[in-house]
Amino acid sequence: MTEKIKWGIMGCGSIANQYANDLVLSKHGQLVAVGSRSKAKAQTFAAQNGGVRAYGSYEEVAADPDVNIVYVATPHPFHMENTLLVIAHGKHVLCEKPIALNAKQTRRMIAAAQKKGVFLMEGMWTRFFPAMVQLRKRLAAGHIGKVIAVEADLGIHFKAGPEHRIFNPHLGGGALLDLGIYPVSLASMIFGAQPEKITSTVHKYKTGVDDHAVIVFTYTDGASAAVGTSSIVRMKNEARIYGTEGTIIVHEMFLHPNQLTLKMEGKPPRTFDFSYPGQGMQFEADHVHQCLRKGKSDSDIMPLTETLAIMQTMDKIRKPWKLKYPGE
Ligand SMILES: NC(=O)c1ccc[n+]([C@@H]2O[C@H](COP(=O)([O-])OP(=O)(O)OC[C@H]3O[C@@H](n4cnc5c(N)ncnc54)[C@H](OP(=O)(O)O)[C@@H]3O)[C@@H](O)[C@H]2O)c1
Repeated sequence: MTEKIKWGIMGCGSIANQYANDLVLSKHGQLVAVGSRSKAKAQTFAAQNGGVRAYGSYEEVAADPDVNIVYVATPHPFHMENTLLVIAHGKHVLCEKPIALNAKQTRRMIAAAQKKGVFLMEGMWTRFFPAMVQLRKRLAAGHIGKVIAVEADLGIHFKAGPEHRIFNPHLGGGALLDLGIYPVSLASMIFGAQPEKITSTVHKYKTGVDDHAVIVFTYTDGASAAVGTSSIVRMKNEARIYGTEGTIIVHEMFLHPNQLTLKMEGKPPRTFDFSYPGQGMQFEADHVHQCLRKGKSDSDIMPLTETLAIMQTMDKIRKPWKLKYPGE
């Protein structure tokens, strides 16, 4: 099959724009339609992205017979509803991270996709960058021995008010769900497991959502991960993976990495460059294309079982913070 995979986008916001730009750089994808709550907004977005079809509702993009897969790019409280709508139309879904607000919603989404036999993946784009592919290869080859500890943080100073989705509980605000998901997912990828014990401290914004947190994971074998997340301060935004035989540093910004440093015991450190064109969402898109061409309904790099396990961990982190979202 040489025909391109045809994409629809739901929600014409900031990440949707980035995705549309990078889809042009993908090998096998093509944007054909966009849906917004506002027809005028969809038309503007469509005009900026190759004059694709523009719909004034999410339903229409899900129903478009020419669309193979929909990229759900709305704020997290709407991911479940939007994804279920696409699935009901028998279409595949790439849903932005976090896949949902919590594990309960995630279970519903997975069950619906499985019942309908369609592909569903959380858009954890970090995993698909060439630098991350290289990281997984080096860990699997034992180049730094047994991994004992991971340190990773993602902190961005949002110069925004309480109405912004990062601080607004009605839009799923909070640093953990928006930014902390990256180091949490990274730890899951590296250890291939969820922590046995979780401890944390949290600082809250005036709207009641978390705006800074430090979290420590302990795994059954005593290995650990120290995770930081913030929406009010800029952090180091790199990941350090410490093994018995060396260290790997995924340099800033580790969520869309282009450099790794490998420090093996007794050898000089080496830095590898993995620069890429655009913003890098094309790697995730091309992985999805490969899955669809192979007829797969789940990714082996960001599998649904792991997405669910990560959301269970996210729920556990949040529980002692007494942070519940409207409708939860
Ligand atoms: N992969 C990444 O690096 C990355 C980066 C940023 C964000 N994200 C994720 O992508 C999602 C969207 O983030 P974003 O930064 O693109 O947000 P955004 O700029 O606010 O855009 C979200 C879009 O969702 C739609 N929407 C539907 N219901 C809405 C409501 N009640 N209020 C506001 N918008 C609503 C709107 O599109 P219409 O008006 O067109 O309907 C809006 O433009 C989030 O889940 C976030 O975690 C991922």
